[in-house]
Amino acid sequence: MGKAPRRKAEARTAAEGRPSRAERRRVRPAGPSDADRVQELLELIVWTDPGLPATMAATLRAGASPASPAGMRLLLVADGDDGKPDAVLTAGPPGEWLQGLRAFGPAAQIHMARRVVDLEGVAVDPGRRGQGLGALLIEDAAHRFRNAGYRLMSGTFELPYGDLTGYYEKRGFTVLPPGKPLLLRIPEDNGAVAYPADPHMQQMWRPLAPGVTAPGGVIDGVL
Ligand SMILES: CC(C)(COP(=O)(O)OP(=O)(O)OC[C@H]1O[C@@H](n2cnc3c(N)ncnc32)[C@H](O)[C@@H]1OP(=O)(O)O)[C@@H](O)C(=O)NCCC(=O)NCCS
Repeated sequence: MGKAPRRKAEARTAAEGRPSRAERRRVRPAGPSDADRVQELLELIVWTDPGLPATMAATLRAGASPASPAGMRLLLVADGDDGKPDAVLTAGPPGEWLQGLRAFGPAAQIHMARRVVDLEGVAVDPGRRGQGLGALLIEDAAHRFRNAGYRLMSGTFELPYGDLTGYYEKRGFTVLPPGKPLLLRIPEDNGAVAYPADPHMQQMWRPLAPGVTAPGGVIDGVL
């Protein structure tokens, strides 16, 4: 493809709301040399386990693969003009739902871990906020998981962050009221598994594939 057609293709992609090829080039999986910066950025998020940023950084520093047999895990960074990360996103298997499927056995849990990904956190350097880096990382992660066959992205945020409802709705998520659990249809059982939420937490979900809907508030078409 010549230069002009490529530019046109990039403009078309941006107009469709997906990150352009040039933007995607700024997003990449974090590597061992990013460990310190990734830890700093992850510490901007309030984690249930405050030691989590240090643990993730140590894993990264050790060069351990983020892949797990139970499902795909991504730690993505968006670079600034100096080539150093200005933003980070982490996403991986949905722990609570996997626990809820224990009675169905490991095959059912692995099936879920290959269909559902949990957006665990997004953090942008305070000096680089409002420039679309958070959105860029979320779209890039959705693109990568969709291409790997994932059908649903779930997520949680807590009230100390302020009301992020509008922010995530703009990114294609359905955001539930505080304290409401996310419910996912289990086809074998014709029942549902719950992802519980504390009263100060808000759950959200976004389809990654066609046919994922939530009739009666239960997400269907995923498993
Ligand atoms: C939330 C966060 C990731 C957004 O990143 P960002 O790159 O600044 O966001 P974008 O540039 O993609 O989007 C900016 C939009 O989000 C809105 N927004 C950003 N933070 C917001 C917040 N806390 N509450 C409500 N809206 C917010 C902005 O007002 C702006 O709205 P607009 O598009 O109508 O102008 C960033 O503010 C951050 O790192 N916060 C600290 C960590 C955090 O709270 N993470 C989220 C929970 S894991």
